[in-house]
Amino acid sequence: MIPVCHLDDLPEGESVRVPTEPPIAVFRTEEALYAIDDTCSHQDASLSEGWLEGCLVECPLHAAMFDLRTGQPTCLPARRPVRTHRVSVDDSGFVHVEVAAGAAGAAGTAAAVAAARAVGEGVSA
Ligand code: FES
Repeated sequence: MIPVCHLDDLPEGESVRVPTEPPIAVFRTEEALYAIDDTCSHQDASLSEGWLEGCLVECPLHAAMFDLRTGQPTCLPARRPVRTHRVSVDDSGFVHVEVAAGAAGAAGTAAAVAAARAVGEGVSA
């Protein structure tokens, strides 16, 4: 588990870039926390610098959209998914990311369910 930040330091609608190799972007939406690979699968833009629209993030370079729950692109020019990662919040309100092994798209649903549970379990921001 990689420590990210305290939940209080990640307001709703914001994101943070985790300097892992490869880097990970953690997003806080109205419903949940999500973590995906930070590097857009089209070129090398940082998705943590993109714009959130519900459960989607828009790449800041060429406007591809990715579903934070699955890592799948929802429009061109990106064609390949990014990996999703499990997010949890500990008893003190600190956010952690569990880096997924393997290919993009494999762990999306499980990570999204865990993220929703993490925010919903009473850790107030
Ligand atoms: S770098 Fe993200 S859409 Fe081109």
